[in-house]
Amino acid sequence: MRLDKYLAQMGAGTRSEIKKAIRAGRVTVNGEKAADPALHVRVPESIKKNENAGTVPAEETDEVCLDGVRIAYEQYVYYLMNKPAGVISATEDPSQRTVLDLIDERQRKGLFPVGRLDKDTEGLLLITNDGELAHRLLSPKRHVDKVYFARLDGPVGEKEQKLFAEGLRVDETLTALPAGLEILEAADEVRVTIREGKFHQIKRMFAAVGREVLYLKRLSMGPLSLDESLEPGAYRRLTEEEESAIMSL
Ligand code: URA
Repeated sequence: MRLDKYLAQMGAGTRSEIKKAIRAGRVTVNGEKAADPALHVRVPESIKKNENAGTVPAEETDEVCLDGVRIAYEQYVYYLMNKPAGVISATEDPSQRTVLDLIDERQRKGLFPVGRLDKDTEGLLLITNDGELAHRLLSPKRHVDKVYFARLDGPVGEKEQKLFAEGLRVDETLTALPAGLEILEAADEVRVTIREGKFHQIKRMFAAVGREVLYLKRLSMGPLSLDESLEPGAYRRLTEEEESAIMSL
């Protein structure tokens, strides 16, 4: 891989910032100053997954440093975002702000959100460049649990709990899989657990029992929980524990 591409992918700066840093002699490869942004650096072809397939052994990869600090190669990155209301779950859009607009420009390349939350929905959103993992998490066969907090326009009770538990017929196009409905202290506030992710699923399920969702927030997806210390719009890298939990799904 080209040296400037390597550094850009690792979030070290924009392509032009990186070219400047290289020309200024701030970048070394295996301890030697690298003056050419097009210099070829060897990276592990495949880490984490397919560990035996086409891997460049660690001793044959190059050590890249910027200002003396090692910039290790990472093929995949995983961010946990607390999505705010008012942005769409897309990578780009001509007129609306997207969740990727909230990510530092230097870290944005190749990223996409895993699944969609509605524009007015808040909460946990996983953002990555790992297409295979996204596919696994979203696969309808895998039934990864997703838990939401919802505030409704009125109370619900045992009748709705039973309907949700049985697998609610929402409309001609959707019969929901059995879902958990936990009623919180205020009877218009609930925690809902669904195992699929159809378009507007939670809002449509409540509409089918005569209730409107006024506020919706995703609390968890599989082993990942919303980090309540993240302000809406903020994000952080997954911890090692969180990464290995999603890898073993
Ligand atoms: N269900 C919805 O209705 N909206 C979301 O954003 C997520 C689940």
